[in-house]
Amino acid sequence: MPTERTHAERFQTERFHLAGAEVLVGADLDETIRIAAGQFAALARKLASEGRPVHVALSGGSTPRRLFQALAGEPFASLVPWLSVHFFWGDERNVPPNHPDSNYAAARELLLSRVPVPAANIHRILTGDTTAMEASDFYERTVREKVPAASALPCFDYVLLGLGANGHTASLFPHRPTLHETRRLVVADHVEEINAWRVTLTAPVFNNAAQVTFLVTGEEKAPVVHRVLEGPRDAESIPAQLIAPAHGTLTWILDSAAASLLTRPPGS
Ligand code: 6PG
Repeated sequence: MPTERTHAERFQTERFHLAGAEVLVGADLDETIRIAAGQFAALARKLASEGRPVHVALSGGSTPRRLFQALAGEPFASLVPWLSVHFFWGDERNVPPNHPDSNYAAARELLLSRVPVPAANIHRILTGDTTAMEASDFYERTVREKVPAASALPCFDYVLLGLGANGHTASLFPHRPTLHETRRLVVADHVEEINAWRVTLTAPVFNNAAQVTFLVTGEEKAPVVHRVLEGPRDAESIPAQLIAPAHGTLTWILDSAAASLLTRPPGS
């Protein structure tokens, strides 16, 4: 059984700090996925060992697919205390749960159908049966009811986020009014840029989490990773810059390609 040290510690992964975030860089994609899976497993085991349920919010898109596959396989499938983990989503497309674009469908296919997570621990955003607005209203109630609060807001133990080439994260897109939402936890937005309805958690929820992890890979993401972490502050154009947990930890897990334009601090 691997020790409790994170994968990053065991394999001397490149580690430095930028813009208040911890940055971990894997030598290649496989290493990067192992770092992310190791972080998730270590966090879940720590919380479960304290007798606590673990509340996580997953991201969508293509990047997390490899992470889901890694977590469903060894050594991680045997490490994670699945009975203690409650799965939520940071955002969802306005499609049915069996649609190929569904973020829930990807997690179910690659992970949740392969590990012993109780059905009662899976809290998908109920898109497909209702309008996006109705789904967002219902999910707002679900998150408030099922995720323990800290500082008067639901506090996820772990949030996984991705990064779009245009700087969006979850379904917080550039120049959208949703970026300024301070009252609601969940909103529906018709995003003209993609001509689609989305349902998304809002920045206050993400920023109340204990651990927020961006998982970003590939050379095509290097420019936007550089903009987010080293560019001028411009959250209206680069919504990922909104993510700055007030009391939690912000970690960027990158492969060397996505990290290739970052300036390493001296001595890192
Ligand atoms: C979604 C995601 C979105 C995603 C980025 C990156 O629903 O699409 O939540 O924010 O993380 O678009 O997507 P890729 O991983 O496919 O590049």
